[in-house]
Amino acid sequence: MQNSAADARHTEQIEAHGLKALRLRACGSEALVYLHGAHVASFRTREHGELLWLSESAIYSPGKAIRGGVPICFPWFGAHPTEPSFPAHGFARTREFRFEGAEERGDSVLCELSLASDEQTAKVFPHAFRARLRVSVGRELSLAFEVENTGDAEFDYELALHTYLGVSDVRQIALEGLGGASYDDKVSGARGARQEGATLRFDGETDRVYDSTGRVTIDDAALRRRTIVDKTASRTTVVWNPWIDKAKRMADFGDDEWPGMVCVEAANTSPHAVRLPPEAKHTTTTIISAETR
Ligand code: BG6
Repeated sequence: MQNSAADARHTEQIEAHGLKALRLRACGSEALVYLHGAHVASFRTREHGELLWLSESAIYSPGKAIRGGVPICFPWFGAHPTEPSFPAHGFARTREFRFEGAEERGDSVLCELSLASDEQTAKVFPHAFRARLRVSVGRELSLAFEVENTGDAEFDYELALHTYLGVSDVRQIALEGLGGASYDDKVSGARGARQEGATLRFDGETDRVYDSTGRVTIDDAALRRRTIVDKTASRTTVVWNPWIDKAKRMADFGDDEWPGMVCVEAANTSPHAVRLPPEAKHTTTTIISAETR
């Protein structure tokens, strides 16, 4: 992948909030991607405006995950299964990725960022790997996260493309696509619950890990918009809104911001962790788009 002077039309290397970042433009859309965490913080289309949500209280600092956009949870999701002192959601979201280049592909611009195992990652994840995020910006935003086993022993990993989506008011939207799916409810502790009815509505803190491989649509009447989350090679969908009390407890989340967002995360979490033999690669993709309602 190249990034010649001619490519400056669609890819600009900038600094934002003191961090290295890329501004990508194609087809009337624009995205902001930090190298810190390979973190897509904004995706705006000409027709529908900003589709992602970013907290006004987000902290931009090495070692800290940015609140909003699309943090990458890798190689584990949530708390580490055996070491509570290890960082929640793994280390990918707090490590600087390397910019490998960008190029035009039809109506879109595609850029690639990478992270390889090193002494630091080995302390918490003793496996050799190379991870790549391919960000494609055009009419839609596509994020493809590939993990390659570069060592000589098999390993398992979890992943979530932890997408924060902007909504008019989470209490007024309807989430479609999870009807009938089974889920673990991290708020009540219930395991193997079943999603009744075709739509999910929100009336309190919501933190659910669904067994689901398909599309989720957010129907947002007030914005006259349907936001669509498609995915490939993902067997888990996480849906999260912290509601009032949890939002207050988070230093990097404004007390009154919770109605404006919902997370719909393309993931592979236990028992659907990915098992990767030596030399094998696995790619999970999430594709975000919108249509007028
Ligand atoms: C969600 C989890 O994916 O991320 C929640 O299911 C968690 O349990 C949320 O609270 C935010 O996590 P963090 O580490 O970014 O505060």
